[in-house]
Amino acid sequence: MADFLSAYSIQYWLESCPQGYLDGTEYGHAPGEKEPDPFVSDPMLRERAIQSTVQLVVGERCALAASSGLINAAPDEASKRYLATQTLDEARHVEIFTQRLYDLGVPKSDLESVIREHANPNLVKFAEVLLEKVDRKDFVAGVVGQNIVLEGMAFTVFEMMHAMNQKVNKKFAHTLSGTIADERRHVGFGENRIGSLIQQHPEKKPEIERMQRDMSYFMLATFADAFRKAPSEEERARIRAELGERGDVEWQGKSLASVDPSEIEALLADTVLKEFKLRLGRVGIEYQSPVRP
Ligand SMILES: [Fe+2]
Ligand SMILES: [Fe+2]
Repeated sequence: MADFLSAYSIQYWLESCPQGYLDGTEYGHAPGEKEPDPFVSDPMLRERAIQSTVQLVVGERCALAASSGLINAAPDEASKRYLATQTLDEARHVEIFTQRLYDLGVPKSDLESVIREHANPNLVKFAEVLLEKVDRKDFVAGVVGQNIVLEGMAFTVFEMMHAMNQKVNKKFAHTLSGTIADERRHVGFGENRIGSLIQQHPEKKPEIERMQRDMSYFMLATFADAFRKAPSEEERARIRAELGERGDVEWQGKSLASVDPSEIEALLADTVLKEFKLRLGRVGIEYQSPVRP
């Protein structure tokens, strides 16, 4: 518990995050960095950037609701204080991804309608499964749903997006790298805090396994929707012409520009599910495979 207390204290958070890797940043990136030209001037690239950023805002709004809601459900003071730091992290994530929508030219007055129009319905359902546990003040299920399932997914998606943007959009890649560092802390808390609670409450396992299976189903359905709308061969040729060599990146040992979107979808799903199995196994939950959407 001593390690747990110092690793998840507000003091540690202050030193490593606001006074550490976020020091000197502006909305998560270096001051003055801008969205590069093709992402604001090419209507297709801009639309795609808006569409994917909306999903990030939807996911982060869910994380904000969950982490703040779990503060009053937490059984111990150290977890409450840790969740207060996570609440601020998630609020920051909502803010920086919302700011990206503004940087891409979404008028402030249209924010909610743009989010409603683009939000993936399966991602909305994914969030509802988790928030139902939070609303019932179910701390153990809430932490598994948020800090292992939601954030395990976010972590991998952010890493993939970071790889994709590293050469073509330094500003967005910087925004993502601070977020990835935050998410790493959040998944660590999930694993460290929840293992012992599950041992104390083995009767909760079946319900948690069901929640994880439902969330995994909606996550895979979200990926399927997203990649179904992936650029056509023609659009990809245009992107290649626009971004050139810089557009090609490696992730998980594959060159993303040369493989089919369906292959990237499978790679992403497999990477996230492998992580789930590993992390859930560590806290004593057996991963349940969802039906493939
Ligand atoms: Fe987040
Ligand atoms: Fe998070």
